[in-house]
Amino acid sequence: MEKQTLLEKAKAYLELCYHELNKENLLEERWQVIQNSIKKTGTYELLDFELDYGTKVAWRNSNKCIGRLFWRSMEVLDKRSLDNADEVFDALFEHIDFATNGGNIRSTITVFNAHKGIQLWNPQLLGFAGYVQEDGPIIGDSKNVEFTQKCIDFGWKPKMGQFDILPLVVRIGEDAPVLREIPKEIITLVSIEHPSMEAFKDLNLQWYSTPIISNMTLEIGGIEFLSAPFNGWYMGTEIGARNLADEDRYNLLPTVAKLMGLDIRDKNSLWKDRALVELNQAVLYSFRKAGVKIIDHHSASKQFMQFMRQEAKEGRDVMADWAWIVPPTSGSTTKVFHTEMQNSVLSPNYFYQENPWD
Ligand code: ARG
Repeated sequence: MEKQTLLEKAKAYLELCYHELNKENLLEERWQVIQNSIKKTGTYELLDFELDYGTKVAWRNSNKCIGRLFWRSMEVLDKRSLDNADEVFDALFEHIDFATNGGNIRSTITVFNAHKGIQLWNPQLLGFAGYVQEDGPIIGDSKNVEFTQKCIDFGWKPKMGQFDILPLVVRIGEDAPVLREIPKEIITLVSIEHPSMEAFKDLNLQWYSTPIISNMTLEIGGIEFLSAPFNGWYMGTEIGARNLADEDRYNLLPTVAKLMGLDIRDKNSLWKDRALVELNQAVLYSFRKAGVKIIDHHSASKQFMQFMRQEAKEGRDVMADWAWIVPPTSGSTTKVFHTEMQNSVLSPNYFYQENPWD
């Protein structure tokens, strides 16, 4: 039953891949090899170009992603030959450095071997610690409280700052998880300032350059890569309207509103809305000033509409999750808001996974 499913998934991807890459003449022979391998060993290995193309199509199929116009431009670092923790750490450092690229962010994925029990415990390769205090508010990023506690359990020294970059945690098979700090030289942090509000920089806000998701499973042709960290560049609202603004994240709207002299007791003053705009402008301004690639939500929406047209031209339906595609601010001012979307899940794709420590 299980093998049946893998065979079917393998076949479906093989046909898609060889068809789209105009390699149909090679399909039959390759299909025989895969069938034999699955019969003999229960699984099979993707060829380099099959893996490469699969990572890209998985991006193309990511219903929640507004940035898919550039799906063909994913840089693939194939690390399937690695099997020990030291090498895995080096590959992760390489990813951070290569993807960040001095600010000219490159969409990148690192693929580790699917069969060697390599686990990455970080939700993202770069992330800020979150600390619960006895009595009092959470310090840092509340999203990372649980993972931060794991790091502390493994001997990491909490620094109790608002923006402490977490260490990387890697586990191989049944070995104990291993923890390592990311070298400072390869981390780019952007200090947030506002183009006209001087006092903004005294809030001492910052964010990291590169969002590298490391807790999703890449599935291609039935092969599941549990460790395959990937990144794009930020859209400003991810930081300005969510990470720094959500009440259960950094919750900074009241602080910004007070800085602006708004009355935060009067809902009719729209203080939240006005603070949001200034915070988002500050994020975009600061990333640009620091030379770190970022996109505003209006341009991203335009690019997504272009992606939909481009896909239609190539005869493919675009699957998309409207609630995720529409930006969290100024929704109705973007084209995507006024666009109907179909939301079924195609393969290859990236899937959520459980916390490795549960
Ligand atoms: N929203 C997540 C964050 O704020 C990152 C998700 C991926 N974003 C991206 N632009 N590729 O960290």
